[in-house]
Parts: sequence; C-alpha cells; structure tokens
Amino acid sequence: MFFGWDRVSKKFHLLSTWLVAIGSNLSAYWILIANAWMQNPVGTSFNPDTMRNEMSNFLDIALSHFGVAKFLHTVGGGYITAALFVLGISAFYMLKNKDFALAKKSFIVAASFGMLSSLFVLFSGDESAYQVAQKQPMKLAAMEGLYKGEVNAGIVAAGVLNPSKLPGDDKEPFLFEIKAPYALGLMATRGLDNFTPGIDDLVFGNEKFGIEGADKKIEKGKIALQALKDYRVAKDANDTAAMQQAREILFGNQNMQNLGYGYLDDAKQIVPPVALTFYSFHVMVALGSYFILLFFVTLFLAMRKNLAEYKKILWLCVFSIPLGYVACEAGWIVAEVGRQPWAIQDLMPVGVAATSLAGTNIMISFALFAVLFTVLFIAEIKIMLKQIKIGF
Ligand code: HEM
Repeated sequence: MFFGWDRVSKKFHLLSTWLVAIGSNLSAYWILIANAWMQNPVGTSFNPDTMRNEMSNFLDIALSHFGVAKFLHTVGGGYITAALFVLGISAFYMLKNKDFALAKKSFIVAASFGMLSSLFVLFSGDESAYQVAQKQPMKLAAMEGLYKGEVNAGIVAAGVLNPSKLPGDDKEPFLFEIKAPYALGLMATRGLDNFTPGIDDLVFGNEKFGIEGADKKIEKGKIALQALKDYRVAKDANDTAAMQQAREILFGNQNMQNLGYGYLDDAKQIVPPVALTFYSFHVMVALGSYFILLFFVTLFLAMRKNLAEYKKILWLCVFSIPLGYVACEAGWIVAEVGRQPWAIQDLMPVGVAATSLAGTNIMISFALFAVLFTVLFIAEIKIMLKQIKIGF
C-alpha cells in the first residue's frame, strides 16, 4: 500500500486496499475457525482405524457459534487497534499543526469507526464469554477467579487474587475485590437464578448441580485409552468380535468424550494458570471500557471547531496507540492460557500434542521465525515512521 501509492492509479490503489482488507479478514476467519475447533471440537468424529478425528460436517465446524463469536470478536479487536492508530497519528498531526484539515477529517473517521468497533467488541465479547461458559466452564471460572460456584454469580469489577489460594482449600480467593452482583451469572447463563460452576465444582464435582468431577472423567478417559489399545490389538489379530467389543467400550458411557482425561493423573491438572487468565481478562475488559469512553469523548470533541485546544486529549490519543495491541494480546492470553491443559478440549492435553521432533530442530525453526519477524517488525516500524514524517 505504501509503495504503490505513486505507481498505480488511485482507483486501482483503492481496489487493492479493499482486496487486502477482505483477504486479511478471510484469512483471520479460517485461522480462528481452526482455533475454535480445538477449543470446541464439533463436526468431527473419531475414527479408531486411522486414530484421527475426521470431519463429518463442514458447516458445523465453519459456522460453529464458538468460532463465529471468536472471529467477530478478534477482528473487532483488530478494528479498534487500527482506529486507535489512525486516531493517535491524526492527533499527533494536529498537535504539530501539520496537514491540519486532513488530520481532523481522519480523526473524525477514526473516532466514528472506533466507537462502532468498540461497541461491537463489547457485544461480541459478551457472546464469547457465553460460549466459553457453555463449552469451557473451567476457563470462565479462571477468568473470574471463581472457586466456589454460585447462583446469580457476580462479576469481579476489580480485585487482587490471593496468591496462596489452591483448589479445594478454604482460603479466600481474593485479598481484595469489588463485585458487580448478578453480572457473571447473566453473562454465563443468559438468565437469572442459574448456577455458574467454579473451579472446585469442576475439579471435585457438585452433585447438587449435576456436575461430574474430574476424577470420574479421568476414569472414563483411561477406559477409553485402554479400549483403543485393545482395538488395535484386536485389529492386528483380525478378531472382529473383539474389535466390536472395544468399539462399544470406547464409544459407550461417554468414555470417548473424556479421552484426554485418560492422560491425566490428578484431577487438579485440569486447572489452568488462574492468575494469568484472571488478570489478562480484566486488563482486556478494562481497556475495552476505556476505549468506548475515549472514542465517545473524541467523537464529541471532533464535532467542535476548537478541537486543537484540547491538547491533553490529543496527547492521550497519541499515547493510547499501543493499548489496542495490549488488549488484543491480553485477549489472546485469556483464550490460550485459559484453555490449558488442553490442546483439544477434553480430548488431548498439550503434553500429548507435543511434537516428536528433536529439540534442536525446534530451536532452529524458532530462531528463524524470531529473526524473520524481528526484521519485518523493524522494517515496518521504519516505514511507518518515515511515512508519518512525510505526511499525507
Ligand atoms: C469490552 C469487553 C470485552 C469482553 C467482555 C471480552 C471478552 C472476551 C472473552 C470472553 C474472550 C475469550 C474467548 C475465548 O477464549 O474463546 C476474549 C478474547 C479476546 N479478546 Fe476480548 N473482550 C472484551 C474486550 C476486548 C478488546 C477491547 C479487545 C481488543 C481491542 C479484545 C480482544 C480480544 C482478543 C484478540 C481475544 C482472543 C480471541 C480468541 O482467540 O478467541 N477484547 N475476549
């Protein structure tokens, strides 16, 4: 986009810009659908002959609510980041009185687009949280530091976790907390008087609310793993009756659905790093609220003639540029750390998904990626700074 500006016609440049934007969004869609499948494996069935989860329904995967919510929320986060970038650079131009009239126009576009995007992110974030509550209740409990489940659970607006708290003990989970009543229950269950399970309920089970503990799931998982082994032995021996029997055990009594638990030894292994998940979630939501306020204020001021006089707000816009990236990274940490120990939810823990390649191979490819991306990062920053200096 930078290099083509003087080399092609304006229309062609605009068309290319749109195509890049559409292409990037499509690319994000497939990446996030693949990621969503790992967090909520739908549309596939396990084939013991190939030892693979094979796709049985493409649309179930491509249009899963979990995946679509993830996609909308993530690209929404990208739109906010872009809007903050344009807002900040436009503010910088106005502060330096450079191309003022054009900078003000792009300031208005960024503030309007940012306002719409941040509201969109709020709603898609709420839907993502609902999806997480349904499919990954442990992640939701970690996001909120909720150890003992509650009916009409409140959301922690701000809080400091107790670092010595462990699942199953009687210690207070927070050293300090401010809660908004009912909010978590409403977000997680979309209704009143419903139970939101906590970490302890999911680890140890809660009969009253029909929640099975991880110990029982570990038993089922081990039965499934054994049935798989028996199936392969029977297959090698061409013993169809034994194969059928192993199949029935594998797919009966929810054994297969708990396959991944078979690799675990202790129920507490299903708890992700709570502090990292909790703080990342709260940083993301706090920034999300700040962005709504910032775009609202800037949009309001942009309508006024004396925008240039609001120097403090303009500098605030400049310094807010990195915060979009911070919010996106925080969200990513919530999604990926909060899903631990699973590579594929309930089916495969990360330890089993680890590659069998030698450590040196991994280190070489990691180093190559690290160097390549650092070079690209430096080049991109340089191009951006040069372009900002040149002006519109
Ligand atoms: C305003 C309130 C917000 C709420 C309620 C919210 C909620 C959530 C939830 C529940 C997740 C986890 C989804 C999952 O594990 O599948 C998530 C992930 C994420 N969030 Fe937010 N979020 C908010 C604001 C933001 C903002 C402002 C940004 C960025 C500017 C952002 C960017 C992300 C990203 C990039 C992810 C990772 C997406 C994924 O891989 O699933 N969020 N958010």
